[in-house]
Amino acid sequence: MISAKYMGLGLKSPVIVSSGPLTQNIVSLKKAEDAGAGAVVLKSIFEEQIEKDVSSELESNAEYLGHSEESYAAFSRDRYIDRYMKLLTEAKKTLSIPVIASVNAKTMDNWIEYAERFVKCGADGIELNYYPISSESGVSGAEVDKKILAFASKARAAIDGPLSIKIGYKYSSLANIISSLDKIGVDGIVLFNRFFRPDIDIEKIQISAGSPVSEPSEYGEALRWIGLMSGEVKADLCGNTGIHNGETAVKMLLSGAKAVEICTAVIQKGFSVIGEINSFIDDWMGRHGYSSLDDFIGLLSQEHIADGWKWERTQFLKTIGE
Ligand SMILES: Cc1cc2nc3c(=O)[nH]c(=O)nc-3n(C[C@H](O)[C@H](O)[C@H](O)COP(=O)(O)O)c2cc1C
Repeated sequence: MISAKYMGLGLKSPVIVSSGPLTQNIVSLKKAEDAGAGAVVLKSIFEEQIEKDVSSELESNAEYLGHSEESYAAFSRDRYIDRYMKLLTEAKKTLSIPVIASVNAKTMDNWIEYAERFVKCGADGIELNYYPISSESGVSGAEVDKKILAFASKARAAIDGPLSIKIGYKYSSLANIISSLDKIGVDGIVLFNRFFRPDIDIEKIQISAGSPVSEPSEYGEALRWIGLMSGEVKADLCGNTGIHNGETAVKMLLSGAKAVEICTAVIQKGFSVIGEINSFIDDWMGRHGYSSLDDFIGLLSQEHIADGWKWERTQFLKTIGE
């Protein structure tokens, strides 16, 4: 039995299809369910993108709008939200697995209101996709931390239902951020988002986009931080980035993840990879005598093992050849 519990939701599998190109239309969402996904996270609605589109619409209609720009902007924004609500409503009608809506926001108020509307419209949970690029040299780490915590607090107060936050790993004290988010009362923390990485095209001598998809070797940071923190927090931790196969999914669960989110594996191998991961987990459990995920989730978390310091010092051990 590989049924899982994540953010208070009952899942038939711990494998969730994460927010991205595979979760933006109903056909793919249904394929994910049919392939055995435990839940899906809809493609994020992006505040930044909408604001950009709204301002270019305002610009091209400037001659007609006069002083009614503000109400036109609100109307324009609503159109995006309505489109998202339509996808959500259709997904809820078509799928029987939990459907989590995802919001990528930089500011607070409107977005929390929209997330509330998604919950009312039937979303089984909200995943906040929080993506600050902290590139201003005058802004300290403490200020960056303050922003994410204020954002999460406000969302927690407003959203009555399962709430998770998907974060990156570039904080000066991840342990402190994870434990502070836990104290705020989020139900889940997704470790870690994989952000856009710039590259350079050396022939054109210009900035280019790095690969949007992960390599299977990229799971290490999530594994480490889930191993370190899962025993310390009440929130459910969910592994993400670099989970391409059943072996890595089992590692995440052993470190203390309650679920895993996958994107690249499905892009590269197709929806059947979900069934393969489920079967691998099931077979592995059989081989090791486990009958439910609870029998082994967190077995190797720092809290549960005598040599928990290894989560922090494995590189050192490798170097000295132990
Ligand atoms: C093309 C593409 C679009 C994505 N769009 C989103 C998004 O809208 N919201 C989000 O939270 N993550 C988005 N992601 C990130 C994935 O959900 C996931 O966090 C990331 O790819 C790492 O997981 P993976 O190693 O399984 O791919 C996107 C990823 C890709 C490749």
